[in-house]
Amino acid sequence: MRQPSSPGVPYREPYRPQVHYTPARNWMNDPNGLVWHDGEYHLFYQYNPEGDEWGNMSWGHAVSPDLLHWEELGTAIPATEDEQVFSGSIVVDEQDTAGFGKAAAVAVYTAWYPKTGLQAQALAYSTDRGRTWARYAGNPVLDIGSKEFRDPKVFWYDEGGYWIMVVALAEDRKVALYGSGDLKSWTPLSEFGPAGATGGVWEMPDLFELPVDGGGSKWVMVVSLNPGGPAGGSGVQYFVGDFDGVTFVPDDTSTTWADHGRDFYAAVSWNGAPGGRRYWIGWMGNWDDAASIRTHPWRGAMSLPRELSLAADGGRLRLAQRPIAALGGLRTGQAVRLGERKVSGPSILPGQAHDGAFEIVAEFEPGTAERFGLQVGGAIMIGYDVPAGELFVERGPREAAAGRHGGAAPVEAGRVRFTAYLDTSSVELFGDGGRTAVTDLVFPEPAGRGLGLFTEGGTALLCSLVVQPLGSVWEALR
Ligand code: FRU
Repeated sequence: MRQPSSPGVPYREPYRPQVHYTPARNWMNDPNGLVWHDGEYHLFYQYNPEGDEWGNMSWGHAVSPDLLHWEELGTAIPATEDEQVFSGSIVVDEQDTAGFGKAAAVAVYTAWYPKTGLQAQALAYSTDRGRTWARYAGNPVLDIGSKEFRDPKVFWYDEGGYWIMVVALAEDRKVALYGSGDLKSWTPLSEFGPAGATGGVWEMPDLFELPVDGGGSKWVMVVSLNPGGPAGGSGVQYFVGDFDGVTFVPDDTSTTWADHGRDFYAAVSWNGAPGGRRYWIGWMGNWDDAASIRTHPWRGAMSLPRELSLAADGGRLRLAQRPIAALGGLRTGQAVRLGERKVSGPSILPGQAHDGAFEIVAEFEPGTAERFGLQVGGAIMIGYDVPAGELFVERGPREAAAGRHGGAAPVEAGRVRFTAYLDTSSVELFGDGGRTAVTDLVFPEPAGRGLGLFTEGGTALLCSLVVQPLGSVWEALR
């Protein structure tokens, strides 16, 4: 039976997400140490055990059978007076290359030494399914004397039979690649960057292989960037290319965003997910305004876990993201289904209050409208902008960064189709077969949560709409 780590937290507080992970209490940012190990998905994360502001950075920890229902286990690797535990990853050392035990879980994290400001890569390990962690006595294992060297993502490179680390040289806008046989001694392999978007520091790299339709595979280099993101502040970009065990070579270096919203950052993927699948999750936050998010007694939420694939787009390959299929298992209650009708201006769907989580699937014909879609309480819009050719989320004037955040998506066979996941304080919008995503935090007024339709500048045809309530993943804790 799952146990809340903070008794008395009802997971029903105002704006508490119902299908997204949040810690019961306190501050959370990046996902860390994502790994499938001994039949469980692990989610570690940047966590302040002492309060709801960034500080005392430690690794919080939760486990799940399905990436949706999480049991919070408390602090895994705590900050000490001399060392804060910044972002990193976990590998399962099947062959005991490091000598911590067969199939030990080994965390490779950035040690930040507040007294000097230096950042170096360090190890901790667990031989009890991630429940308790010991720091390696020989730490740090990779120290180049830098204050901007962080967020190691390590994985086993099967073709070569060695470990690979991608790690950010943040100020240089580079990713450094290292190789190792034992996780303890690391040899430089190559560097990638600067490339694409360079308007902020580079953080949280990831590198993984994905199959390509019709055979073969390509590699994807992921880089988070702050500031300089697509909607201001933090953002995640990626490059598709080839990797030979030493060097990553991108197919092209134009800037490509994984998500066009304000609040999808530090996304990284799970190591070792069953069936060779590639799932990732991001922090639904933006360094521009993360400190002022009005939630209590926690601050910080994860995105929905999304399954990744590569999809052709003209002559290019693009990342396609689909919220994991298991979300379908949360469908509950009566869905509202609307058939064909004209939409002109704003309208309210009777009886549809936004008081939990919903999956929304909509299909429209643009008609004469310039913009159309769904609205929440009149202030939050989820829709399509015809002149811009973009799916967008628009946040109300009360939000920290009000405005419209959009990503390109084509009208196909005269229609626009999108899927949105609306939780108590977030929207994740997907279109163009998952090639376009827009993630924004939203904080609708308690009195303004009616769901409705809208058009601006003309009339659109709604072809079909399904608004499906999703049950809370915290139900079992109540
Ligand atoms: C990214 C980041 C990382 C760092 C961590 C500190 O959001 O800045 O580069 O390791 O957060 O909490």
